[in-house]
Amino acid sequence: MPAAAISVSEVLKQRASVRAFRNTPVPQAVLDEIFSLAQMAPSNCNVQPCRAYVVSGAKKDQLKQELVSAVMSGAPPNPDFEWNVKYEGVHRERQFGSANALYGAMGVERTDKPSRQIAMLRNWGFFDAPHAAFFTMAKYLQITGAVDLGIYAQTLALLMAERGISSCMQGALGVYPDPARKMFGLSEDTGILFGMSFGYPEDNAPANKARTDRVALDATVQFLS
Ligand SMILES: Cc1cc2nc3c(=O)[nH]c(=O)nc-3n(C[C@H](O)[C@H](O)[C@H](O)COP(=O)(O)O)c2cc1C
Repeated sequence: MPAAAISVSEVLKQRASVRAFRNTPVPQAVLDEIFSLAQMAPSNCNVQPCRAYVVSGAKKDQLKQELVSAVMSGAPPNPDFEWNVKYEGVHRERQFGSANALYGAMGVERTDKPSRQIAMLRNWGFFDAPHAAFFTMAKYLQITGAVDLGIYAQTLALLMAERGISSCMQGALGVYPDPARKMFGLSEDTGILFGMSFGYPEDNAPANKARTDRVALDATVQFLS
């Protein structure tokens, strides 16, 4: 699909995380273009710490199976980086707000724990997307590298959106890292920070109707002069 004439502002007005996809793969030439352009994302001191792994086809199916088994086994999460933050105050309220938007759109009741768990499990099935990216970096980089990886991932997401490709960033993909670590042959000093499922959206899927709100502008930014 050729790049559409759509501005970044328009992309941002239209965008939302997508959690249901058509199974049409993105052509490799389009992936090459997106990932080449994403190389232009800035990074601290230009260290370019991100090493991304994109799984598709049989490898993606294998990883999906292994990840779902790992989660279902009841084994405790063992993320390579600190994903255990417990949100407090307004952050907790906003966390509930985003969960309510998603489960509300899916028709899942707040009290219906089994259905919520099934919906949550879809994270490790990549929401049936044809592709998933895993963002890895040297563990010692900690917060500095995490900032760079976040900027890289959002750059990718914007390039994708420009081409009609939707995505969902997923901290969940960093929580049970072992199957992906094994598949990618990662060394001990490298960690998976997070991931992203992506592909062409299934527009009519209830999960894709979820819309989150945003705080007032003055709660995010103050202009001083
Ligand atoms: C770093 C990061 C990690 C995220 N992890 C997950 C995740 O594991 N599962 C999920 O369904 N959504 C995940 N999201 C998506 C957020 O829930 C979503 O961006 C937020 O609720 C705002 O909604 P919107 O993207 O539709 O505007 C993540 C987003 C980011 C930026």
